[in-house]
Amino acid sequence: MRYDFDKVIDRRGTGSVKWDLNEELFGTDDVLDMWVADMDFPCPQPVIDALRRRLEHPIFGYGFPPDSLYRAVMDRMERFFGWKIEKEWITFTPGVVNALHAAVRAVAEVGDEIVVQPPVYYPFFRAVTDSGCRLVYNRLRLEESRAGARREPGAEGTGTLTRGRPGAGPADRPGPVRYVMDYDDLEEHFRTAPGFPGKSHRIRGLILCSPHNPVGRVWSREELERLAEICLRNDCVIISDEIHCDLLLGGSRHVPTATLSPEVEARTITLMAPSKSFNLAGLSASFAIIPDAGLRRRFERARAGQGGVNVLGLVAMEAVLREGDDYLSQLNAYLTRNMRFFAGVLKDIPGVRLVPPEGPEGTYLAWVDMSALARRRGMVRPEKAGRQDGPGGASPGGAGPGGAVDDEALRRFMLHEARIATDPGYVFGPGGEGFHRFNLACPRSVVEEAAARLERAVRAG
Ligand SMILES: Cc1ncc(COP(=O)(O)O)c(C=O)c1O
Repeated sequence: MRYDFDKVIDRRGTGSVKWDLNEELFGTDDVLDMWVADMDFPCPQPVIDALRRRLEHPIFGYGFPPDSLYRAVMDRMERFFGWKIEKEWITFTPGVVNALHAAVRAVAEVGDEIVVQPPVYYPFFRAVTDSGCRLVYNRLRLEESRAGARREPGAEGTGTLTRGRPGAGPADRPGPVRYVMDYDDLEEHFRTAPGFPGKSHRIRGLILCSPHNPVGRVWSREELERLAEICLRNDCVIISDEIHCDLLLGGSRHVPTATLSPEVEARTITLMAPSKSFNLAGLSASFAIIPDAGLRRRFERARAGQGGVNVLGLVAMEAVLREGDDYLSQLNAYLTRNMRFFAGVLKDIPGVRLVPPEGPEGTYLAWVDMSALARRRGMVRPEKAGRQDGPGGASPGGAGPGGAVDDEALRRFMLHEARIATDPGYVFGPGGEGFHRFNLACPRSVVEEAAARLERAVRAG
């Protein structure tokens, strides 16, 4: 069937976190909600049909995942990724964040260390610290202007890439702007600290976000292989959050970490869910795939008492795993067009730039650097002036010659001048300063309205 993603559906009054908490969270209801990562689109029709059928039966007692659901997960892993998995490897969990907490406790004891790669989905931090573990930051590096172009600090818009001599050949063309993993920094964390006695690391796991929220990278096989090689060499389990694995823009391809090799498969906990791709977050239905029996036992022990997926979530999950492909291809095409449109508009708004300028490879989240605008408007904290950023390289909103971006002032600008509720970048940890994350999983008319509001607010200053 053909889905009409252009249709605006009023979600107010449905108990929606995104639309019904504006006063409470932002102190104003006069905002366009483009923050939390759920979609303003209806879910696939097979879900509605399957739930309707289930609702015909008036009893909602305890349920369990049927064999057919295990089979649906196994079939889909093979169909989408060529990954042959076994039934015993699958555990159904009431949400990925819930499973993340258990995964951390499965691999680490109190006082151990877990690596995360900020800027990253912020509940990763609490999954580590709430388990009594310590966070180790392996910051992503924003690689800019490799092919001879330079970014002027504090320069504005996508015109921030300045060229060398005109017409001097390919080396003078703007290079790619994108986030990469910092493998040297990661290796450094695993090295024994010098001194007497030398202090060895207590890193037991790395939480990987693949595809990455909020920077939108769909990691290549080569990037994942390099990461996995370092992790395996250092006996570090990879907790691979792949909730965004279906949301692939412009033809990107997702490689599940565990498919790299049997050795990597045995050291990986994969977390997936239909919630992002099919807009089912409120049904709390997800699953973990853990091939290694020992790791699986530890995960099960860590989840003791948490229960599984509710009966409606089980029904919805099976319906989309089996019958959601058609929806997904229409959705990804629509999201790709939304992103292209947004990229086109942002190109001409001074002081803001989409990173990368053409939009993300995956997810429906646009990661927008607003640091130049903030600096131009004097939204800076001078006390940080002169301090250089730590490992992982400088971030546009971090400390620099003009000071660090005042993220609270930028947030107020977004809420009260642009009148758009977005996720401020600093909540995603180091490297997120000066950015805002826009959720573009909404009808085109809403994206147009957001772009217009942003442009008006920027030009009014
Ligand atoms: C990377 C990532 N993991 C997990 C979640 C949330 O998963 P759940 O709602 O299943 O807990 C999100 C939601 O945005 C996410 O981006």
